[in-house]
Amino acid sequence: MSLISPWRADFPGILALEAEGQTYLDSAATAQKPQPMLDALLGYYGSGAANVHRAQHLPGERATRAFEATREKAAHWLNAGDATQIVFTRSATEAFNLLAYGLEGEFQAGDELVISTLEHHANLLPWQQLALRRQLKLVVLPLDSSGLIDLDQAAQLIGPRTKLLAVSQLSNVLGCWQPVSQLLALGKAQGALTVVDGTQGVVHDRHDLQALGCDFYICSSHKLYGPDGVGLLYGRAPALQRLRHWQFGGEMLLHTDFYNATFRDAPLGFEAGTPPIASVIALGASLDYLAALDSSAVKAHEARLHNKLLAGLSLRQGVRLLGEPRVALASFVVEGVHNADLAQLLTEQGIAVRAGHHCAMPLLQSLGLSGAIRVSLGLYNDSSDLERFFAALDQALELLQ
Ligand SMILES: Cc1ncc(COP(=O)(O)O)c(C=O)c1O
Repeated sequence: MSLISPWRADFPGILALEAEGQTYLDSAATAQKPQPMLDALLGYYGSGAANVHRAQHLPGERATRAFEATREKAAHWLNAGDATQIVFTRSATEAFNLLAYGLEGEFQAGDELVISTLEHHANLLPWQQLALRRQLKLVVLPLDSSGLIDLDQAAQLIGPRTKLLAVSQLSNVLGCWQPVSQLLALGKAQGALTVVDGTQGVVHDRHDLQALGCDFYICSSHKLYGPDGVGLLYGRAPALQRLRHWQFGGEMLLHTDFYNATFRDAPLGFEAGTPPIASVIALGASLDYLAALDSSAVKAHEARLHNKLLAGLSLRQGVRLLGEPRVALASFVVEGVHNADLAQLLTEQGIAVRAGHHCAMPLLQSLGLSGAIRVSLGLYNDSSDLERFFAALDQALELLQ
């Protein structure tokens, strides 16, 4: 059965790549952008750029209004409550670094920071480096055989010394929803601060952050069909108040003389310097675009495509999936075939998939692998993309196996 995306024509990038002979199956790395987002970028620059939060003139006031409107839209998209709980960063990675520096004063030597085996480097390295700076212990939750964070073991490992729990909602390698609510309950029972990496999760379902109840939630515009250069940090107001300021300059202050300064609260106190104005405004256009779609139709289309991807992979000899992917993507290795060789032959046939460690090197190590191929889907993909992928895979495997 052929599956046609009714939204494909809204994404000029996917059409341009197709015209060039490229099949784009790497949306977990970054997504293509809808036309309204491109229009918003051009609209902002074409109608007169201006800095935000500081000018009284008309262009400055207009830019500030559009910029702050995105904060409202993001808060609405995430059901995050008051929009002042949304901080714009330059990426999801920067948001994790903001937390690791901003919370540093909360921890004493011997305190435990808990993450899991499947974390992206963005949700590993800032905590690892913080642990090294402050003599903290990094505790790593293991996975069960299907690729889920093991709740029994988590209940043993999350204890009175746990001061922070930071886990991913949807793995960028294994493609399965993690038991985040149960993990948050374990962390909160110990009074730990809780952080959810929603970078992949935010793309494939709507989430209610007030119901989820985490202290912090992080995601990235460029994976959510928005421009790059923008990350989103949601923090519950009391959790944001615990953050120490970490980058200094521009309008993030209340008052300064040469020797001392006082700083604004979140969000502006954590947005030092000129922010990515055009990108934030254009993210607002992407959120408007997404909000106007029938979200159940999008989910159903993605689920059908994902099933087709899994069914096709299961038919190929020697293909082994990593974990039990349930949504959005599948990572695999082929027995006796090096993933870099396979990736090379796919690339030569115009198939854009990702090969390597997917910024989760310790996860790959724990699986005894140095790399894997990942196929990831966006709402604009069609079954024709998968057909081209499988034809190229068969051709490559004929040469390599
Ligand atoms: C699960 C996850 N977390 C964090 C990140 C980091 O996002 P960014 O590169 O936008 O900072 C990524 C990006 O691949 C990701 O997949």
